[in-house]
Amino acid sequence: MVTLIKNVISLSPGLKHFLKRSRDGYKRGVLRYRCYSYEKKRNAAHMGWHRPNNLAYSKRSAELIFWYHKLEKGLCLPPENRRFFGRYPAQQTLDLLTKWNRDGLSKQATVYKAAVGVLEAYRDFVATQDSTKPDVAATLTELEAFLNGHEQSEQIYRTPIEFKHLPEDSYDILYALSMSRRSTRNFRDQRVAMALVEKAAKLAQLSPSACNRQPWRLHIYDDKSHIEQMLKLQNGNRGFGHTIPMLAVVCCDMGAFFDSTERNEPPLDGGLFLMSFLLALQSLGLATCCLNWCVDPKVDQQGHKLGNIPQNEKILTFLAIGYAAEDTVVPLSARRPLSDLIVTH
Ligand SMILES: Cc1cc2nc3c(=O)[nH]c(=O)nc-3n(C[C@H](O)[C@H](O)[C@H](O)COP(=O)(O)O)c2cc1C
Repeated sequence: MVTLIKNVISLSPGLKHFLKRSRDGYKRGVLRYRCYSYEKKRNAAHMGWHRPNNLAYSKRSAELIFWYHKLEKGLCLPPENRRFFGRYPAQQTLDLLTKWNRDGLSKQATVYKAAVGVLEAYRDFVATQDSTKPDVAATLTELEAFLNGHEQSEQIYRTPIEFKHLPEDSYDILYALSMSRRSTRNFRDQRVAMALVEKAAKLAQLSPSACNRQPWRLHIYDDKSHIEQMLKLQNGNRGFGHTIPMLAVVCCDMGAFFDSTERNEPPLDGGLFLMSFLLALQSLGLATCCLNWCVDPKVDQQGHKLGNIPQNEKILTFLAIGYAAEDTVVPLSARRPLSDLIVTH
């Protein structure tokens, strides 16, 4: 019977084509469902500050930045808009700082010090407002009660700072750097010093992120056999994976986001960080190649396990880092004309 069906199918190319398309469509549908429900489950489990495990440093610090950044932004609006603002964010900031102290988190943490710096600037602003208004008077009292227990912030935590105008050749310098960065698929057998990665990461940290929460996490691997195992999970390194001396996995801490409406932020913030990181590595004489993490849920979990990456982190991409081998060539990778890109309205 099976042979008969097979024979009928082989005699009819149209039927064969139809069956193949149906089978592929079914497989795609199953995969789509698995990927969507995986993301949905992970978002529900890790995105959101309302969870009881909200005490973790990463979440608490993200929430703190989120609130104090509202004050910091408000202090930089055009002068005509600088009427009294910020009572609620200030209360949230004070409340979180109190919890921070109650939970024994470090007062030396940058995030804590930055919060105090913002509150000082905001207090100075509130002090210029009409103190006969109850909101103004109450806010000032609350701020002073907190800040009186702190020494004045060091200069590096004082905000706002002056906008810097750059010299005219800045574009040319950045253009030359961007032109020289090309995905490299042939690395020299030479270790990459961790100090260089740190230097590049320090620059990449200057990337913008939603409410400045800086949700990025960078996992670095330089053990050859570990890299080899990790690369087996990834389909875009064939032919050159064995030359990669250092592998980075760029991730985003999903716990930095307040709820699922922020679902697009992890890849967005991560992408901004990644671009700066690539350029910084390039400027330090290193070569790179992004390696897509387009994987099904099962492989994503294998990546977490093998890379020792916590579940609250979303893996965004693998990244090969090293020195380009002698005589390496790279694709031209011509760019589209601007008319394909810009739509004017
Ligand atoms: C998210 C992302 C994933 C990528 N994945 C791979 C990959 O798996 N393998 C590979 O050889 N190149 C990969 N690339 C490199 C692209 O092919 C490359 O960036 C593009 O062709 C432009 O070339 P350029 O980077 O040299 O300017 C990836 C790039 C990005 C941004």
